[in-house]
Amino acid sequence: MSALPVTRRAVVLAARANEASAADFALREIPLSAPGPGEVLLENVYLSLDPYMAAYMLGQHPLETAIEARVASRVIASENAALRPGDLVWGFFGWEDYTLLPTSLRDRKGYPVTANKIDPAHWPKGAPLSNALSVLGMPGLTAFAGLVDIAMPRPGETVYVSSAAGALGQIVGQIARIAGCRAVGSAGGPEKVAFVESLGFDSAFDYRASDDLEATLGEHCPDGIDVYFDNVGGATLSAAIAHANTHARFPLCGMISTYGAEATSDVTNLFMTVRKRITMTGFTIYDYYPERMPAFHDTMGGWMRDGRVRYRETIVDGLEATAGAFTDMLTGRHGIGKCLVKLAADPLAGDVDSV
Ligand SMILES: NC(=O)c1ccc[n+]([C@@H]2O[C@H](COP(=O)([O-])OP(=O)(O)OC[C@H]3O[C@@H](n4cnc5c(N)ncnc54)[C@H](OP(=O)(O)O)[C@@H]3O)[C@@H](O)[C@H]2O)c1
Repeated sequence: MSALPVTRRAVVLAARANEASAADFALREIPLSAPGPGEVLLENVYLSLDPYMAAYMLGQHPLETAIEARVASRVIASENAALRPGDLVWGFFGWEDYTLLPTSLRDRKGYPVTANKIDPAHWPKGAPLSNALSVLGMPGLTAFAGLVDIAMPRPGETVYVSSAAGALGQIVGQIARIAGCRAVGSAGGPEKVAFVESLGFDSAFDYRASDDLEATLGEHCPDGIDVYFDNVGGATLSAAIAHANTHARFPLCGMISTYGAEATSDVTNLFMTVRKRITMTGFTIYDYYPERMPAFHDTMGGWMRDGRVRYRETIVDGLEATAGAFTDMLTGRHGIGKCLVKLAADPLAGDVDSV
């Protein structure tokens, strides 16, 4: 076995002055001890960049500690029989290259890491480890639960999803197609729209190029909207309400246009939800994790094997790139699909290209 690292490098929140802009982050080098009895040392392979983290950082994240995030990792040393070197796991660790797990083997949110061990026997053939943080992880389960469990789409209905080229949106539209629905997506810029169309969405548009969002949405949903999967909130939610059919269902997943201290929400027509009898259901992944995970894995794994769900990740390399990639993800400047940072070689066969 090669020598264990004696330091870890971590991206910390150094200031809270700039709304989680890249200027608020700093890279620190911190001493790292070898695992003691019951402890486990992880090499972190992929870090997740998620929109919710912006609000968390603005409020609660302690300064000068590694940013808490979902991370996919490989065990490189273990003094605990429950995890052996070479095992692959994911959990709430940090934006850091190595993590020393305590004897409880619980992550920073208190979840048992052993429950998130990746079992190669049940992992779709060729799927890279990055998928544990994307299509086979939190974004995939959130899209699946919000659409399948909450909206319950029926064949022939129109399903509209905002941020359709993002981590969740790309999956929502493809599940809608599998359910026999007409899938409509909006995204920022022609490249993202082309990607959404390439996934088989029936219609897609660039919301940034529209000077009348409500009119544009109406053109793309001539039969109205039966299901709106809301990732964005604000004016987009207003436009979806305006075009909703009677008894439409709106899974409210996120409202990224309203995140940040200065943001305001301009939903102007909530009263129409009464007349149209719209069901709006706010939900979080924690309503479905971990109970729904096995059924989700079976179903999504099958769809991936059959080529019915395709998935895009944008991956940048190295801790140095993490803060910039995070702020670019929030504003839509950063790539297509799920945004991740890669710190080490992917131990699974189907490694994906970095950009
Ligand atoms: N409820 C839950 O448990 C749960 C779990 C995961 C995520 N979420 C929420 O689900 C939503 C999507 O998450 P994700 O991980 O899939 O992120 P994502 O869509 O991959 O990334 C965020 C994207 O939002 C778009 N965006 C930013 N500001 C916008 C605005 N003002 N109007 C319209 N679009 C805007 C940008 O893409 P464009 O270039 O297209 O503008 C940006 O890249 C977020 O609101 C997130 O907070 C909720």
